[in-house]
Amino acid sequence: MKVPTSIEWKDGKLIILNQQKLPHEIEYLELENIEDVFDAIVTLKVRGAPAIGITAAYGLAHAAQLYKTDQLDKFRQHLKRDFRYLAGSRPTAVNLFWALERIVKAGEKACSVNEAKTVILEEAIKIHVEDEETCRQIGEHALSLLKDVTNVITICNAGSIATAKYGTALAPFHLGIERGKKFHVYSCETRPVLQGSRLTVWELQQSGVDVTLITDSMAAHTIHSKGIEAIIVGADRIATNGDTANKIGTLGLAILAKNFNIPFYVAAPTSTFDLSISSGEEIPIEERHAEEVTHIGGVPVAPGNTNVYNPAFDVTPAEYITAIITEKGIIHPNFNENIKSLFGELVK
Ligand code: MRU
Repeated sequence: MKVPTSIEWKDGKLIILNQQKLPHEIEYLELENIEDVFDAIVTLKVRGAPAIGITAAYGLAHAAQLYKTDQLDKFRQHLKRDFRYLAGSRPTAVNLFWALERIVKAGEKACSVNEAKTVILEEAIKIHVEDEETCRQIGEHALSLLKDVTNVITICNAGSIATAKYGTALAPFHLGIERGKKFHVYSCETRPVLQGSRLTVWELQQSGVDVTLITDSMAAHTIHSKGIEAIIVGADRIATNGDTANKIGTLGLAILAKNFNIPFYVAAPTSTFDLSISSGEEIPIEERHAEEVTHIGGVPVAPGNTNVYNPAFDVTPAEYITAIITEKGIIHPNFNENIKSLFGELVK
């Protein structure tokens, strides 16, 4: 049994596990240029907030290695152009912008183009390496909260393949299995593009975690009939009041948790906090192609002329969240106060 991973930087090449093809095909793709990176993010070949950030960081650093100039100001202009290009790939996960900004900032200190190329690449590798340790720490904190819990619901894939390794919401299950702690995870299939059934079920099976698939509409009944004791989800962006954007369907689960009086946990690295916004109202919600809703696996499931609304994320108000689990520790309500005391002056 092995915890799967999805991003590798090897011999100057960026290789990803193509999450579009899972679970039927294990295909690794080399992203050869910045257009490949953009396409991989837009088409969900790589997805999940931290994984998007890591891939974009490598993509920008890789592109920068090929700039044909020895003038620093030109180099920085190219870097900013490519930053803007990749930043336009998906709007909601703040880790994308956070990672790209780290790359640009790393380049600012350099005194020559050669030095800039080196430090930028080192920074991308650092973002990748740090994320694995971050997720491990999130898993440790989550395990402490879930020590008396067996039956859990999750949605989407906030797992190992959505990060460098282990994941956020799925980290306690991967770490738990290594220690003999048994969970029974119920994975919501996560319509429209089925990250829950295609990715979470596959990923947990790879590491030997007991996982059962349910459709999204079965969550309420499952909480009641299967003795669900907690819900744990990932996040794409968290405002400084604790409001959290995550995969569409998360808000419904949070409301259910409150109704059934079970804890609702958000697991996310500190890089998922947007310290420039004070409420979830300010989080841009990506709307995706109608075809994701009208078709399943390429097969039409609605009339051809159907009007579709396809928001990829929703925002769970902080009042529904029991705790936010980060690598730096567990944040309890009052989120406004406790997020401010964790981040200090960085909160704008
Ligand atoms: O559209 P996706 O698959 O990128 O959405 C992913 C999620 O909503 C995850 O829960 C979130 O990014 C956290 S991944 C650790």
